[in-house]
Amino acid sequence: MTDFGSLETVDVSLDDGIATVAINRPKALNAINAQVLDDLEAAFEGLSQERVACVILTGAGEKSFVAGADIAQMADMSPEAAEAFSKKGHEIFEKIEHFQAPVLAAVNGFALGGGCELALACDIIYASSRAKFGQPEVKLGLIPGFGGAVRLPRKVGLAAASEWVLTGNIYSAADAKEIGLVLSVHEPEDLMGHVQKIAKAIAARAPLAVQRAKKVMLEGLDMAHAGAAELEQSSFGHLFSTDDMREGTKAFLGKREPEFKGS
Ligand code: CAA
Repeated sequence: MTDFGSLETVDVSLDDGIATVAINRPKALNAINAQVLDDLEAAFEGLSQERVACVILTGAGEKSFVAGADIAQMADMSPEAAEAFSKKGHEIFEKIEHFQAPVLAAVNGFALGGGCELALACDIIYASSRAKFGQPEVKLGLIPGFGGAVRLPRKVGLAAASEWVLTGNIYSAADAKEIGLVLSVHEPEDLMGHVQKIAKAIAARAPLAVQRAKKVMLEGLDMAHAGAAELEQSSFGHLFSTDDMREGTKAFLGKREPEFKGS
């Protein structure tokens, strides 16, 4: 098992196939510096070696999910260093987005700039009623650097994304739900319970089917209709080679609960 305890800024726990990854830099409201990027990469790399059915990504403490990329670290960066920082963020967020199991964002507080972008790399975003979202980079003379200008318009459409990115305004969880960024909003004390309930439901299903379903939806979104349809057809066929598909259908016909093995 990976030694997650050696990570400086990210806490990882794994319980019954459900991993919880919490960014933990409370002094800077969990802002993402180079260390956080390294730790996030190591956390997901380590989890890819484990039996993980679902990941919950959140921010440690009660105030913040992630308040953005670390402004203090960025302030003196050269253009070359900034481009490399953006590239590294993109690469790691892509690894999170394409992690084999679903990743659920539990947004417990500020999700600004790089924090909103980190949530956007997750499959589903759930929010506390205290959460605040936004892409405030233009207030700093910047644009989003970890995929916000790429994923936000794809997720919520160009009009809403344009207002968010071009004004840099801060939005409530209810606003984020209204544009379709957030799936549901919960009282702060209920957020983790709700997300854990969803994670448990996912973890109870056939793991290979869940992974394929994620892959088809995610990769299909970047394809033309015909390519996405082909990907669904081949994936549907592929699942007929798994033990779990035989078990799932037999269990249904035998009127019993299935026992999935992940094979
Ligand atoms: N980077 C570095 N430090 C940050 C930070 C960030 N993004 N956000 C907050 N902090 C630090 C503050 O500097 C402060 O540190 P000190 O106690 O040492 O002064 C500490 O966290 C607490 O913050 P505040 O005192 O400001 O807390 P607040 O409750 O008054 O305000 C806030 C909270 C509205 C989130 C405010 O901190 C804020 O506006 N933060 C910046 C948000 C932002 O602009 N994010 C985008 C960054 S750029 C980016 O992300 C680029 C990209 O796409 C890659």
